[in-house]
This record gives sequence, C-alpha cells and structure tokens, in this order.
Amino acid sequence: MTDLHESVDDPALTSMTLLNELAGRFPEAVSFSAGRPFEGFYDVANLSQHLATFRRHLEEDKGLSGEQVRRTFFQYGRTKGFIHELIARQLEVDEGLTVDPESIVVTTGCQEAMLLLLRALVRDPRDVILAATPNYVGFIGAARVAGAPVRSVREHDGGIDLEDLERQIRAARREGLRPRACYVVPDFANPSGATMSLVDRIALLQLAEREQIFVIEDNPYTLFRGSAPQLPMLKALDEQHQVIHLGSFAKSAFAGARVGYVIADQTVTSDGARPEPPMLLADHLAKLKSMVTLNTSTVAQAVIGGYLLENGCSLKRATAREAEVYRQNLATMLGSLRSVFEPVAGLPGDVSWNTPEGGMFVVLTLPFPADDAMLEYSASRFGVLWTPMHHFYGGTGGFHQARLSFSVLTPEQIALGVERLGALVQDQRAKQPVVAGRA
Ligand SMILES: Cc1ncc(COP(=O)(O)O)c(C=O)c1O
Repeated sequence: MTDLHESVDDPALTSMTLLNELAGRFPEAVSFSAGRPFEGFYDVANLSQHLATFRRHLEEDKGLSGEQVRRTFFQYGRTKGFIHELIARQLEVDEGLTVDPESIVVTTGCQEAMLLLLRALVRDPRDVILAATPNYVGFIGAARVAGAPVRSVREHDGGIDLEDLERQIRAARREGLRPRACYVVPDFANPSGATMSLVDRIALLQLAEREQIFVIEDNPYTLFRGSAPQLPMLKALDEQHQVIHLGSFAKSAFAGARVGYVIADQTVTSDGARPEPPMLLADHLAKLKSMVTLNTSTVAQAVIGGYLLENGCSLKRATAREAEVYRQNLATMLGSLRSVFEPVAGLPGDVSWNTPEGGMFVVLTLPFPADDAMLEYSASRFGVLWTPMHHFYGGTGGFHQARLSFSVLTPEQIALGVERLGALVQDQRAKQPVVAGRA
C-alpha cells in the first residue's frame, strides 16, 4: 500500500518510537529520556473516591436527579465537557484568573486541544504558525497532522526571542504568508526548561496586539517551580483576548486520564461569505471536536472533577507533594552535574548545562554530537539514556545537546545516571583529543 498522508512518515512523529524502543532494549539503563510525571503517589483506590466525590457534587451541589446523574456518567455528553466550571474555579483559585466557563472546551488531553486549534486557525496555504524552537514534539506533531506550517523562532535562556519573533513575522509577510499565532510554553518549557520574564510576557502580548496574531500559551509545568516566584500566566495578563490558553491535567492529576482543555474566549465574526452571528472560538472548536472525539470521556472528566473538588479546586494544593519531589530532583540533578562536570584545573570545561528554576528538564551541551547513534552507544556501553535535542528542532539544531528529564527518578538514580554520563564524556574525550584539548 502506498500514498498515505505525508505526516505518517514525518520524523517528528516517529522520533519517540526510537526512544521507546531503546528503553525497551536496555531496561537496566538509567533513563533521563521519559518526560513522564512522578508516579510514587498514585493509588488505584483514589479513582473510585474521586468518582464518588463527583457523584455527590452532582447530587448535592447541582441538585441532579438519580436519572440525570446516571446519564452524566454513562451517556454521550456535552461536547465542551461538564467540568468547565470547576476548571474555571481552579484558575481563579491558583492563578487569580477569571474566565467565562463557556469559553472552555474540555479536551482529550492537551493534545486534542492543539489539534483542534491548529485545524481552526489555518484556513489556507498562506497561514503559518510561529513557535519558539526547540519545541514540544506533541505540538510539532499536531501541526503536521493538522497540515499547519510551523515557522521557527529562536529561543534563549529567557524563552522566546522577541526580536526574532518580530523578524519572522515580517519575513513571513514579505513572502506573502499570514502569521496567525505564536506557540509558547512560558514556564519551564519542554524541552529547554526556559522561563519567560514578566517584562517579556508583557512585551509578547504587546507585540501580538501590534502584529495582530494570537498567542497560544501551553503551561503544564507552571505548578512545579523551585524557589522562583510565581509569574502570571499570559492569559492572566491578556486584556485584548489575544491569548488562547491550553491546559493539561497530565502533570497535575494523571496523564492516563487524558483530560486537558482550551480557553478560547475570542469572538469570531463571520467573513461575509456566509453571514452568521458572532460566536466564541470555543464553540467553533467544539464543532470540530464533535467530529473527532464527540466528547471527552465522561468517566475521566468525573475523576478529574472529583480530584479538583477534594482539593478545594487548587492544583497547587493537590500537587504539593509532587512539586517537592521535582524540586529535590532538580537540586540533585544540578548538584550531580556540578560535581561530575564542573571544570577543575587541567581538565576541559567542555560540558555545560542550563539551570532552570523548576519543571522537569535540564539541557546538557556536550563536546561531541549527541545524536541517535550516540544515544544507542550511551545506552549499550554506559547504561544511560537521554533524549537527543535535535528531535525538538525539526533537524535544524541541538546537535550537541541532550535533554535530561528527572521527573520519574530517585535522587540516587539521578546521581548514578550523571556519573554514567561522565563516563561517556571521558570515553569520547579520549577518542577526540583535539576537541577536548581545545577547551
Ligand atoms: C509542553 C507540553 N504540553 C502539553 C503536555 C501534555 O499534554 P497532554 O495533556 O496531551 O498529555 C506536555 C506533556 O509532556 C508538554 O510537555
């Protein structure tokens, strides 16, 4: 069989297969690859408790009859979901953000929200989406599937490079293209760990308003900050309805629930060809959703709803223990990197890393290509896995960099894994004396 859609063979969609395959072949290796949430506090018994809490909420707070409750759990449901009010309350409690619950569409993971949004924003071949690069593979993949061209914008330690964003917008317009939106992960980004300053957040919104583009904000790591003060989400600073916010419960509640959402409070007016009354972007996304997943699993929504209710609708409160694990793991990671790689007199300082203030990822820069072949060598000879950063650059950069994820490891495993990385670097230095001697 031939002639399938080009996304099927796209390297962005197949890159994770290699990582999973290596993890399967080297089960004893310390894996800095998996970007999964910590699972030490999961308890199957909690699922039925959350369901019961949500059932009580429907009966007692909402006054639903037994018949209505049964229908809520078992039947096809409202396309935009039924935990939108609880999500709005969580945003109010944790972020001081007031949103109209009607502007929220509950989706099957943040992934579905990305797909629906990209499908809606890209109307014709002139439309392009801008994105800070390196970029989350889920977003790159969703764009490929939706047929949305993505134009890369440089990123530095403080997140997206606003000068480059402006340059890319202008360049796209000169080429006859129509930049529609820019995708950013403002806190502890995946994969770079970068965080945008408050000044840059405000400047990004001003730029978006000036250039008439939307900002797509995706912020699943914001709860997991080290000692850094909390900065407002872009959506909380958004006075002009410029920001479309993507939410995920994968890192807060649990990834298997596949529950996320999008806040799309923009008013869409008709283009004249087919006169229609103005509508919320959320309602247009719901029309698309009705042809993709119909509604987000009622059972999964009920579990997440119960989880929110049990925690006073505060994810900060709900994830306090996880946040402490990530804080400790980040400190262990940075401490281990310093003790293994910090240059001492006579040895090359040819390995560097960034120092994120939260999240789950650190980026290591190596004096040799950190490609897929090196990853296989690292796993088979030294028992340590990591993610080559070039996968997040769509093949345009990151060739000497590795993403190190520390979310599912113990401090002991992290220290051991970094020692093993140290052995890999020694091995490569011995093979490349010229490169090592240069530093
Ligand atoms: C940047 C980013 N967005 C979203 C998600 C979560 O998406 P989902 O809710 O589909 O699991 C992740 C998870 O890895 C991520 O890194």
